Amino acid sequence: MKRFRQYRTTQKVRDQYADVPPIQAQDFIYPYFVEEGEGIKTEIPSMEDVYRFSIDTLLEDIEDALSLGINKVLLFGVIPEEEKDERGSAAYRADSIICKAVRAIKAKFPQVIVFTDICLCEYTSHGHCGLLYEDGKPIAYDEELKALKRTGCACGVSHENVVIDNDTTLPLLAEMAYQHALAGADFVAPSAMMDGQIEALRQKLDSDNRTKGTRILAYSAKYASAYYGPFRDAAGSAPGFGDRKSYQMDYRTHDQGLEEIQADIDEGTDWIMVKPALAYLDILYRASVAFPNHPLVAYQVSGEYSMLLNASRQGYFDEKRIFHESLTAIRRAGAQYIISYYAKRYFR
Ligand code: PBG
Ligand code: ZN
Repeated sequence: MKRFRQYRTTQKVRDQYADVPPIQAQDFIYPYFVEEGEGIKTEIPSMEDVYRFSIDTLLEDIEDALSLGINKVLLFGVIPEEEKDERGSAAYRADSIICKAVRAIKAKFPQVIVFTDICLCEYTSHGHCGLLYEDGKPIAYDEELKALKRTGCACGVSHENVVIDNDTTLPLLAEMAYQHALAGADFVAPSAMMDGQIEALRQKLDSDNRTKGTRILAYSAKYASAYYGPFRDAAGSAPGFGDRKSYQMDYRTHDQGLEEIQADIDEGTDWIMVKPALAYLDILYRASVAFPNHPLVAYQVSGEYSMLLNASRQGYFDEKRIFHESLTAIRRAGAQYIISYYAKRYFR
């Protein structure tokens, strides 16, 4: 017999054999939800210890994150329903909530590396990530339906011919990224899953010397996942009708994720991502082997976070240990960076 137990006799011995590098504070990217206002720190009902901040309280919280060594943040904008429209206009204005937040962060904490999410769904009245077209023509989202948004569509109108249009969405995503870059974002992170979005962003950013140096973190292999549930509650971005399956990836596939990543690399992305993380460790691992030259990010999404935290609250298992185990698995599968709502708690 081979004596494997010699690797496990004491904590000290186990530590000697542990070959997965421990997760450091700098390996985390910490997500934030930001809205207009002052003194706001509202806990998100579906996500314990995750908040929507106004810019002033956001800065305080970032100071706290920095004291733990966390120096990377990912920003999501949250706006009131009344400010949303069919084209997500609030997303790509120079004075958007995200542009203001980026400027404020960079002014106070220039050492923070700021990532901004590039997608329309937090800003469109219909909650989809791109523009709506029907029979080849742009369509408006009806007011009646808007009122029914949270409970899904009951307007009685068939949406069979409604598509989320790819090519007309691209310039809007590019403009959004450009505005964030002008505001000082280090990375823009397109998450809309529109084909060609990396190329569209790169061209736009390269067209101006001020934004040439802005890098791209592509949500490359992003699956249509039920694990995003709590996020949509947090960001108010649930689709008003239908789902995102016509643009986010089908998880019943082996290779599409790898092809999507390759395409994003060809289009000029700097960093790549697999999302969600825990249910997609196979994809993550394969990506780490196939694309060793691009920093690989895994997104431990809202549903993963809430699931683990809630179950530990119920006493099913220990919070620290279950997160340590899950995050270590994500790292073992090959993630260099991890986007996680747990980042701060991990170091407490
Ligand atoms: C926007 C976006 C989503 C997430 C990140 N960017 C939601 C979605 O695609 O519906 C999910 C993040 C999470 O669940 O934590 N497109
Ligand atoms: Zn979106």
